[in-house]
Amino acid sequence: MRRITSVVATLALGATAVFAQNVPVIKERQDHFKKMGDAAKPVGAMFKGEADFDLTKVQAALKVMQEKAPILPTLFPDDTKTGGDTEALPVIWQEKADFEARFKKLGEAAKAAEASITDEETFPDTWKEVMGNCSGCHKKFRKPKS
Ligand code: HEC
Repeated sequence: MRRITSVVATLALGATAVFAQNVPVIKERQDHFKKMGDAAKPVGAMFKGEADFDLTKVQAALKVMQEKAPILPTLFPDDTKTGGDTEALPVIWQEKADFEARFKKLGEAAKAAEASITDEETFPDTWKEVMGNCSGCHKKFRKPKS
């Protein structure tokens, strides 16, 4: 009887390990992404010609990206593959090096853009390039919007 109890206990422990979901970390990374998205939104409107060019907002968005780029790759531990309402795809954990390199590239692109975007003329091409880092990663590593 004691033996059976311990087998059951072991199975229960195993199940917990397999299905552990670190939802707080998933929420944390989504929050960082959301802040980048919120900062980029008004600049996207300028890019589309729907809002007047405002260098301060552009620089602020690029700063947020530089701030988030080194934090984000630390928020994808193994126990956050599923859970909450994550849109992260399993390929992240299969191709971690590529995934992490893309955050580094985003941070570098945002830094370079902060120096090179100085006015309305220098804005569109460089902004598009920076944002290509977002869409490129989402295409491969984030669930497509249904
Ligand atoms: C290296 C990959 C990568 C890069 C670069 C990246 N993202 Fe994401 N993004 C993700 C993944 C993965 C998720 C899904 C996270 C989750 O749901 O757990 C996501 C989610 C988001 C979300 C949704 C957050 C929420 O509320 O659930 C927004 C908004 C977002 N990203 C904006 C951006 C913007 C803006 C950029 C560029 C400035 C960017 N991302 C760059 C991988 C990336």
